Amino acid sequence: MNDLPVVNIGICGLGTVGQGVWKHVTRSRAKLEARLGAKLRLTRASVRDLTKKRQVRVGASRLTTDPMEVATDPKIQIVCELIGGTTVAKAVTLAALRMGKTVVSANKALVCEHGPEIFAEARKHGGHYFFEAAVAGGIPIIKAIREGLVANRFDRIYGILNGTCNYILTRMERERLTYGEILKEAKARGYAEADESLDVDGWDTAHKASIIAYLAHGTWVPTQAMGVEGITRITQVDMHYAREHDLAIKLLAVIERDFKTDELSVVVAPMLLPRTKVLANVNEVFNGVSVTGDVVGETIYIGRGAGQDATASAVISDIVDGVTLLVRGNAALPEPVEHHCPPRPPEHSTNRYYLRLDVKDEPGVLSKIAAATARFKVSIASVQQTQSTRAAAATLMLTTHLTNEKAIRSAVAQLRRLAGVLGTPQLLRIASFED
Ligand code: NAP
Ligand code: HSE
Repeated sequence: MNDLPVVNIGICGLGTVGQGVWKHVTRSRAKLEARLGAKLRLTRASVRDLTKKRQVRVGASRLTTDPMEVATDPKIQIVCELIGGTTVAKAVTLAALRMGKTVVSANKALVCEHGPEIFAEARKHGGHYFFEAAVAGGIPIIKAIREGLVANRFDRIYGILNGTCNYILTRMERERLTYGEILKEAKARGYAEADESLDVDGWDTAHKASIIAYLAHGTWVPTQAMGVEGITRITQVDMHYAREHDLAIKLLAVIERDFKTDELSVVVAPMLLPRTKVLANVNEVFNGVSVTGDVVGETIYIGRGAGQDATASAVISDIVDGVTLLVRGNAALPEPVEHHCPPRPPEHSTNRYYLRLDVKDEPGVLSKIAAATARFKVSIASVQQTQSTRAAAATLMLTTHLTNEKAIRSAVAQLRRLAGVLGTPQLLRIASFED
């Protein structure tokens, strides 16, 4: 055992995830070392504030406030970037990769925004960049798409990719609280990003969707090129409607490729999902990803999407891959082949929709709404009315038959201009995902 090679690991960022990694590597060290045939040393860690109380005990001599010291320490072979953000994290990542090291990251914003540059740097200097923890927390979805499902092409991938939002939506549904009340708890549990608007406005899901789209199709879709909506406009009225109609509201990423036209679409938005779908029943902090491959059919992955332990599980799996490559030879894993898929135009995207509007409670409003939707050939399937919280107003909930995205958006723009319509209508897709 004494002759085993030693692999030194440095942790940049000892917050929620970093401490989880420290804790579980320490606890499972003997088991991991036996499986790897190598000794693991947690050599150094960086933090911003040396006086902050930590859940894990790290000797003062091993702590620094300079993550670059960890990243460029010649003794350290594997650097975990668990800082977050795209400035310091990027500098640390590139510095470590330029020294030929392996970098393990949970940072989806960084992969999404600077993936090509980072991957190129890893290749150039003979290092590796692993990021399993960046998508869907503890679910090994990157391994599944990149390795396990390599025989497939992917017509459709859809997923609940943000634990914070799923936690909020589940609790809103069950306890009828507002999203703001529950967000505080999600933060306390370590699920939310340092900037929580990344979660609730949909951007964190968009970062993850961009990474999945690249791994599955070889095309980088920047978040600005996707439709991205968050959950902040979901109200108890929407929740009530969903409950009554056996639907669930989930923040979904939907990645679809039409292999006839090659068009690729990546959308992030809250959607109504029939309760019969597995993902409609994925609750709390859990994430769920449905991957449909032409060879395998549909496969579904469910697991905790955020939080210290689940994320540490994914980071440690990458550390283990890094150690394996170091100890048993420097092979590379299969990489996506770069390919340019054109974006799918909105008129090629069809859905049923749910539309909630506050309107003046007076005669003729409904006929004006029907005329506005008919103008864009949007056919209404059902109408329900309830009391509005606004004075002298009613809330209407409409659903449409299948219609295309361009038509419904034009109809909603027209509705916003109608004198009888108050405020901004709420538009949600009703996702059925039937072929
Ligand atoms: P966190 O709790 O805020 O921890 C960040 C750590 O980095 C802290 O130790 C902090 O130091 C340090 N740090 C922050 N800014 C720094 C700077 N400018 N220079 C040096 N050190 C700095 O964040 P986290 O939740 O662990 O997330 C870390 C990464 O994992 C992010 O990319 C996040 O998106 C990703 N991620 C998180 C989860 C989750 O459930 N939390 C899940 C998957 C992926 P102090 O402790 O001294 O403040
Ligand atoms: N804030 C993220 C989430 C962390 O809630 O899903 C996991 O990526």
